Amino acid sequence: LAEQAGPRPLAGRTALVTSGPTHEPIDPVRYIANRSSGRQGHAIAAALAARGARVTLVTGPTQQPDPPGCAVVQIESAREMLAACEASLPVDVAVFNAAVADWRVAGEADQKMKKDGGGPPTLSLVENPDILATVARAGALRPALVIGFAAETRDVVAYAQAKRARKGCDWIVANDVSPATGTFGGAENTVHLIMGDKVEDWPRMGKDGVAARLADRIAEALAPSAG
Ligand code: CTP
Ligand code: CA
Repeated sequence: LAEQAGPRPLAGRTALVTSGPTHEPIDPVRYIANRSSGRQGHAIAAALAARGARVTLVTGPTQQPDPPGCAVVQIESAREMLAACEASLPVDVAVFNAAVADWRVAGEADQKMKKDGGGPPTLSLVENPDILATVARAGALRPALVIGFAAETRDVVAYAQAKRARKGCDWIVANDVSPATGTFGGAENTVHLIMGDKVEDWPRMGKDGVAARLADRIAEALAPSAG
């Protein structure tokens, strides 16, 4: 029989969590961003810390208070987020919830861009590094458990399974953001936890509920198996 989990089942474990948006600079005063609030990622960091893990939270700019008991690393761009994540390794588990900008501006200007009468500038974009995929393929530094997120509007589980394989992560939390679920702008999420071939369909719940349940699953997965 497995031992009853104590109140701090992740004591002695280390975790990395990413959260929030990234800001990609155009020039010293302008950037490209997205609407991620950081609520879900910060809640996951807090839930892991509450279960005893030593948590590094790498976050883009958000309005969220620092979660209690976490080491918080504030970054802006995707490249800074990648560097901060690599610096946090090794860890036992890594959860990638950040809404990383897929593209950044090529050749950001080092002075503020001015209207010079020549019409609007053209911004060309280049792809950012995939932080989850990089850490999932970090060889000896790869965390034992690597977890990604995917927001999809249709064929949610199938698309998320494909994403999991492409990125090389162990689990993926697939969030159904189809209009019918009312997730956009709402306080609740409808998620499926995909653990290899095993899929759990979770009831609709708040972001703190998703964080608590995910932290419980992580604690179970990292628990030493009963000898
Ligand atoms: N992710 C990441 N680094 C990136 C892009 C995404 O770490 N540059 C992570 C996210 O934090 C998330 C997962 O990868 O855990 C899936 O992100 P998503 O944007 O859904 O995947 P993409 O591969 O960017 O595909 P899409 O074209 O659907 O945006
Ligand atoms: Ca993306």
